[in-house]
Amino acid sequence: MEILIDENSIKEIVSRLGKELTADYAGKNPLMVTILKGSMIFSSDLIRQMDTDIELDFMKVSSYGMSTVSSGKVNILQDTTADIRGRHVILVEDIVDTGYTLSALKECLLSREPASLKICSLLSKPSRREAEVDIDYLGLEIPDKFIVGYGLDFAEKYRNLPYIGVYEGGTV
Ligand code: IMP
Ligand code: MG
Repeated sequence: MEILIDENSIKEIVSRLGKELTADYAGKNPLMVTILKGSMIFSSDLIRQMDTDIELDFMKVSSYGMSTVSSGKVNILQDTTADIRGRHVILVEDIVDTGYTLSALKECLLSREPASLKICSLLSKPSRREAEVDIDYLGLEIPDKFIVGYGLDFAEKYRNLPYIGVYEGGTV
């Protein structure tokens, strides 16, 4: 598999993001909301690069993507357990592709009146964007290729690769 981002480069990116978040959230006790499953590995590395108090929560969503009329609608399969009202929330995502997932999720979470809501994504494919979404903390922009590894899957496989590679096993 062609390696797009090797282990060392991932470490550097995550360390940089951790420093940015540490500086911005000192004393704010933010709630990091990790979007399962893909962002789990990124998130678990990221929080260990943050030298400030944080709390963890999780959401699991399924997106209809563009395949149905309900494109942009996001199904919440598992919600946060914490009350996010008045909290400084950081939404942690692995990759922003069309932007539908995060723009819908952002709208949903904002309606619960957090003190602030920021998005931290390891990767972004800007050429694929259909729904506008501001990424406050971004690791890296990548070209329009289907990638796997470091939490990202193809049909639930390859999440455990320590690097990010380009999947060439067929159309997806
Ligand atoms: P969006 O709603 O199109 O932005 O979808 C984002 C979600 O699609 C991500 O959280 C991933 O789960 C998935 N995704 C998008 N691009 C890729 C990729 O290249 N590899 C693996 N999963 C991807
Ligand atoms: Mg995902």
